[in-house]
Amino acid sequence: MEADITITVDGEPHRLVTDTRTTLLDALRDRLGVFSPKKGCDHGQCGTCTVLLDGRRVTTCLALAVAHDGAHVTTSAGLASDDRGQALHQAFLDHDGFQCGYCTPGQICSAAGMLDEAEAGWASAATEDVRSEPTLDDAEISERMSGNLCRCGAYAGIVTAIREVAGTGDGHGEAARR
Ligand code: FES
Ligand code: FES
Repeated sequence: MEADITITVDGEPHRLVTDTRTTLLDALRDRLGVFSPKKGCDHGQCGTCTVLLDGRRVTTCLALAVAHDGAHVTTSAGLASDDRGQALHQAFLDHDGFQCGYCTPGQICSAAGMLDEAEAGWASAATEDVRSEPTLDDAEISERMSGNLCRCGAYAGIVTAIREVAGTGDGHGEAARR
């Protein structure tokens, strides 16, 4: 069965007729030629396919495209057009938050999503006092980014980069010194 849907990606609307079993990741990559989100595990385990879907981070390999007719997708490439997205990209460069770069678009989308979640006061499993605004130290960031794996092991740089953008780092975070 097919469905006629419209998805806006990084500000550009796309109309497509798609099989109702097609994942959002496959629709983006195979149908729309949007290659910023990457396919890793294809089972919701690695986070490399993460985008912001109507402002919230999601793993697109677990989302059906047909369920998101009319949605707005922001990829890591799209994030580069706003100040915070640019700051995240630059911080990953400055603090060696990547090696091969395969996981990086997902890491950056997830970082943007978690910064919004923390700003909204959402607690994580690492939050000690759920009644107060979480402080994005190494433990908080590591927990909140735990859905994004990096096979190159660039975690120390990733945490340092996010702390810098969150305003809780000195540019040489605890993780980077380990
Ligand atoms: S490809 Fe989606 S979580 Fe791994
Ligand atoms: S930079 Fe290579 S997988 Fe993360």
